[in-house]
Amino acid sequence: MKKENINKIFQSIADKYDFMNDLMSFGLHRKWKRKFIDLIDLNLKNKNIILDLGCGTGDIISHINNKSKLNSNYLAYLVDPNIKMIQQGIKKIKKKNVLWVASYGEKLPFKDNKFDLVTMSFSLRNVENIKITLNEINRILKKNGQFLCLEFGKVKNLTIGSIYKIYSDNFIPELGKNITGNKEAYKYLVESIKRFPSQEEICKILKFRKFYNINYYNLNFGIAVIYSCRKK
Ligand SMILES: C[S@@+](CC[C@H](N)C(=O)[O-])C[C@H]1O[C@@H](n2cnc3c(N)ncnc32)[C@H](O)[C@@H]1O
Repeated sequence: MKKENINKIFQSIADKYDFMNDLMSFGLHRKWKRKFIDLIDLNLKNKNIILDLGCGTGDIISHINNKSKLNSNYLAYLVDPNIKMIQQGIKKIKKKNVLWVASYGEKLPFKDNKFDLVTMSFSLRNVENIKITLNEINRILKKNGQFLCLEFGKVKNLTIGSIYKIYSDNFIPELGKNITGNKEAYKYLVESIKRFPSQEEICKILKFRKFYNINYYNLNFGIAVIYSCRKK
């Protein structure tokens, strides 16, 4: 789907986005995000420069702020093409070391080798071009910088997979319609999860884009997955 159309979808649900996440995942996304943050592996003696791409309303930086390990010893750029999502985030997060930037992931307004860490949470699925975005992430990361990505995955367990399919095909679009008035946006969500490459395919793509130390961790049978790797 064209990035302008994806942008319109998020525009239409921005004010209910956080509430819907809790509802649809029964709060599970919070547990997944906590695990995601736990996998940050940085030299804590330095002041790290972080980029959260497809930051939405800034959930990842909220989790980082609540986690004592990083403290406030970082400078974070929160990047998203959607101004309405960013506006919701600005209401939530009031920190001097957090800078908001409106941009698509396919062309980032940063110089090469700038960041110690790039995170993406449920946003790689939404970019128009995954490979170009990963090239950009690789370009702006420092050598050995970490890329962490949280996304939906493929469930291999047949029983769980079929329950999950029934739930997402039927329940999620209806819930979206009732809460946000936009059933199409939540149909898009379900379709984008189906279209997104499998765990193995993402690892292959990362390998071809000059990342190393590539690992993935399935959460709740692979409904969600965390990818961790480093720039060569
Ligand atoms: C499902 S939300 C995830 C928000 C947040 N990271 C979280 O975990 O709650 C996906 C986000 O990706 C953003 N997005 C869509 N297209 C994008 C692109 N081409 N580059 C970067 N972000 C994009 C959307 O605007 C939206 O805020």
